[in-house]
Amino acid sequence: MTEFEPKIIAFCCNYCAFAAADLAGAMRLQYPHNVRIVKLPCTGKVDALLLMKAFEDGADAVFVAGCLEGQCHYLEGNLRARKRVTYVKRLLEEVGIEGDRVEIFNLSSAMGGRFAEIVEEMTKKAKDLGPTYISKKFHTEAK
Ligand code: FES
Repeated sequence: MTEFEPKIIAFCCNYCAFAAADLAGAMRLQYPHNVRIVKLPCTGKVDALLLMKAFEDGADAVFVAGCLEGQCHYLEGNLRARKRVTYVKRLLEEVGIEGDRVEIFNLSSAMGGRFAEIVEEMTKKAKDLGPTYISKKFHTEAK
């Protein structure tokens, strides 16, 4: 039997988190390959619909990664994103999906190592939780 490989979606802001992901690559850091990065101008662009749609489309875990608090290039985008992630945790629980499957992180562009750690953490969490009842369908179809 093949090991469950979770699908992780990362919504990263262009300025810090995406640059940190890029740095992780440039530093040749090893991290799980099952993360798909969606680059956004700012995490303030993230809304509940976008996060829920990622789960509807088969994600096993989703994370939002933006600038450090106080350093968002659009002032409060990352603070708004944090509130939305908290809201989506509740929404997920209401539809029978563990709220821990969605998280938010703050990074600077120099934190390539931390980005790799986050991917490891989210992958481990998704593996421990197993597929969602939605993603099970996608994992079954892929076989
Ligand atoms: Fe990075 Fe807003 S510009 S979180």
